[in-house]
Amino acid sequence: MSQKRKTGIQFLKNFRETGAFKETSRSVELEICTSIPSDRAVTVVEFGMGHGNITKEILSTISSDSKLYAFEVNQEFCEHVQESINDDRLVIINDGAENLKKHLNEKIDSVVSSIPFSFLSDNKGHSIIQDAYDLLETEGWFSQVLLTKFNFKKFKSVFEECEMVKLPNFPAEYIYHCQKKHGKF
Ligand SMILES: C[S@@+](CC[C@H](N)C(=O)[O-])C[C@H]1O[C@@H](n2cnc3c(N)ncnc32)[C@H](O)[C@@H]1O
Repeated sequence: MSQKRKTGIQFLKNFRETGAFKETSRSVELEICTSIPSDRAVTVVEFGMGHGNITKEILSTISSDSKLYAFEVNQEFCEHVQESINDDRLVIINDGAENLKKHLNEKIDSVVSSIPFSFLSDNKGHSIIQDAYDLLETEGWFSQVLLTKFNFKKFKSVFEECEMVKLPNFPAEYIYHCQKKHGKF
């Protein structure tokens, strides 16, 4: 059985956490990393690492002296990535995105997220976005993939600049790219 298929089965088994029955597509892996700077040392945070498909793309984008903190609530997924990706730049955090500030008190250059916002309460979703905004550097980006447009307004209520890219896959995948322009709060 292919790794993609095994991952799909694991996602389906944990559907309430993953909100997905398969990994995001190759076009998502590429598009969601477009706002990460590759020409200097950066600190990147990933929410919802899963089996690490986007994680690998982030690691191939960032420089050798950068750092990636990847949050994932599912312990088995963390163990899978620990065994399959050997990279000193990657720090796996087996905890929820809502606990970002418990683990990090440094500035972040980019956030890349594939957590299922549609499965989170409005309060929890808003607080995850706000905490990430607080830690982001001015001009930093939060890029989120979702299967719907519905959560875009939550991001627009926190970030000064937001654009949505629709990838014509089946089902369609939407990437929200949101930029912190000047710390309005
Ligand atoms: C749709 S899957 C995406 C996995 C993978 N990054 C991809 O692109 O296919 C969402 C992932 O987010 C994880 N997750 C759900 N809620 C989370 C939270 N609050 N914090 C961190 N990870 C979470 C799930 O366990 C799952 O691995």
